[in-house]
Amino acid sequence: MEKIVDTHEEIESEVIQGLTSPQKYIPSKYFYDRTGSLLFQQIMGLPEYYLSRAEAEIFQNHGENLVSLFGNAFDIVELGAGDGSKTGILIEWMLKANKDFNYIPVDIANDAVDQLTSQFMEQFPGLKVDGLTGDYFKMLDKLNALGNKRKVLFFLGSNLGNFSMKNSLDFLQNINAKLVKGDLLLLGLDLKKHPDIILKAYDDREGVTKNFNLNLLDRMNREFGADFKRQYFIHYPFYNSVNGTVCSSLVSDRQQTVNFKLWGNSIHFQAWEAIHTEISQKYDKHAIQYLADKSGFRILQDFHDSNQYFVNTLWIKK
Ligand SMILES: C[S@@+](CC[C@H](N)C(=O)[O-])C[C@H]1O[C@@H](n2cnc3c(N)ncnc32)[C@H](O)[C@@H]1O
Repeated sequence: MEKIVDTHEEIESEVIQGLTSPQKYIPSKYFYDRTGSLLFQQIMGLPEYYLSRAEAEIFQNHGENLVSLFGNAFDIVELGAGDGSKTGILIEWMLKANKDFNYIPVDIANDAVDQLTSQFMEQFPGLKVDGLTGDYFKMLDKLNALGNKRKVLFFLGSNLGNFSMKNSLDFLQNINAKLVKGDLLLLGLDLKKHPDIILKAYDDREGVTKNFNLNLLDRMNREFGADFKRQYFIHYPFYNSVNGTVCSSLVSDRQQTVNFKLWGNSIHFQAWEAIHTEISQKYDKHAIQYLADKSGFRILQDFHDSNQYFVNTLWIKK
């Protein structure tokens, strides 16, 4: 299993740049240390977190049809694979249809890639799994070296929604530039729906999403010697129905200073100043068509769950 991990200097400059910006932020990829990955698995099982159930339903009900569009021989590269629980459903369909494929999960969380690799090798004997640990922005450069078979990229779980529309477009254009004509991209995207349903998915009753958000601060303490006091920060998600974005933040409930011992930085917070931690974009069909058109893909087919909450949209590089 190959690893391209961020250097300490890259991490320091990214985190400190975020926390010293006029609008403080921490990039959302820092959610996923071991604790964060486990918390995310818990989130996927919450009654409020409809996204994972909807995508699993799509794969159960339409997976056979969906994988028939992949052709016979290809390599699956999954960006931000996580625990791969939904991907396993598609792998079963592919094996049933005797497809010739390798599976390459890419994730920034080393534990996630390790666990997924051993789980899939046990669950699907004979399947070739070749995991990569690292930032998918860096891993995209490796795509060309993967061989001559058609590539089918998976980007599931509305992962794309963690980018702003502008960054999504840049990312999709970047992916497109690394593919060859006829390669495929399968995106899982969360759709606009009743705002209350959306907001609850990011603010569940048990407080698991709250813990997931606050774990960012715990991680800064554990790994970078910071002294955040989680009890002085408020988990505050809200949904903007005008632009379709859930914005999650951690709001400092007082004036305070946080020190990073490892790096020697002090970060000052005014009372009620927020750290922006994540966006989760919700889409409609016009936005999806726009992204495909502008990034050099054609939409082959869309697959929905029975509630029309979520879409898996299969794109082909033009
Ligand atoms: C919202 S979870 C989705 C997991 C999975 N795709 C699913 O649908 O269940 C996001 C996943 O992407 C990974 N991730 C986030 N940012 C990443 C980055 N920049 N590079 C690689 N992996 C990343 C996280 O570690 C996590 O496993």
